[in-house]
Amino acid sequence: MDGYIKPIFAMPSIVKILRLLADETRLRLLLLLQGQELTVVEIQEVLGLGQSRISSHLAQLRQARLVQDRRAGKNIYYKPGDHSAHRELAAILEVSAREIPAAANDQKALQLILRKREDKAREYFNQLAGKFGRTYCPGRTWEAVARGLFDLLQPMTIADLGAGEGTVSQLFARRAKKVIAIDNSEKMVEFGSELARVHGFDNLEYRLGTMEDPPIPAGTMDLALLSQALHHSSNPPRAVAAAYRILKKGGRIAILDLLAHRFEQARELYADTWLGFSETDLLQYLEEAGFREIEIGVVSREGKNPQWQTVLATATK
Ligand SMILES: C[S@@+](CC[C@H](N)C(=O)[O-])C[C@H]1O[C@@H](n2cnc3c(N)ncnc32)[C@H](O)[C@@H]1O
Repeated sequence: MDGYIKPIFAMPSIVKILRLLADETRLRLLLLLQGQELTVVEIQEVLGLGQSRISSHLAQLRQARLVQDRRAGKNIYYKPGDHSAHRELAAILEVSAREIPAAANDQKALQLILRKREDKAREYFNQLAGKFGRTYCPGRTWEAVARGLFDLLQPMTIADLGAGEGTVSQLFARRAKKVIAIDNSEKMVEFGSELARVHGFDNLEYRLGTMEDPPIPAGTMDLALLSQALHHSSNPPRAVAAAYRILKKGGRIAILDLLAHRFEQARELYADTWLGFSETDLLQYLEEAGFREIEIGVVSREGKNPQWQTVLATATK
């Protein structure tokens, strides 16, 4: 368990504290722990004393709540305790730092120890450089990165066209002014609306309709999103033109879809109408609709067969 363990001793008298401080080693210990936490082994290295002596001093200081400890894996870290915040104690330590000849050397040795700690971490990352992008990094999932970035978005009005049950709509709804999720499946709209209600999104509205003619007034949206939806459209150029229509001037479109592929079974397996789109197809739809500042590129490749590739096209009205 990580976290500082607070002993439940009564507050020691000032006499007890002064008695504890009347020892050079304990003063050196307290001076060392000012500003960082250290393990017994690190303290040992700095003070050049045996482990049992250090442990016994630390135990006494801990009892008086002048230090506290925290277990992290195999190590126990020590840092100043609740009672070390006394103004009087700070003054005593300040004078002691000047009076105890070994204290200055302790600080130099401490800097070495801290550098060693940093070197260990640096060495680890030095070895990983060049491979790190491809190596597993605990906690660094694409979901975490995407969620973090979603939270940085400016509040916008967003149309999610072919939204399904609204997995992406809900991510946007955390920050958006309003999200309108359009889908032509009654069940998706029903299920999505219920999900939005359960999750408390009152800025997420589902509407039954098609991406080729979405029930959204012209010139009202900041962003039109088609995420894995366009390849289901009966008329993709028309869907892109409809997205243009509902956008405000300066509004953006984002199409995430499969790059053109030859996996015919997708028609049966996923009810796909189109086997993805080439970058040229998307460019043509966007240009014909009147979009500018068009950018298109492959943003992900799956390792497993049929090795889907995802293409992202963005543009401005
Ligand atoms: C693969 S899902 C994608 C859902 C969602 N955009 C996502 O990324 O999770 C495709 C959705 O498009 C909807 N759809 C298919 N054709 C449509 C059309 N012409 N207009 C509106 N929605 C459509 C389907 O009902 C389905 O929910």
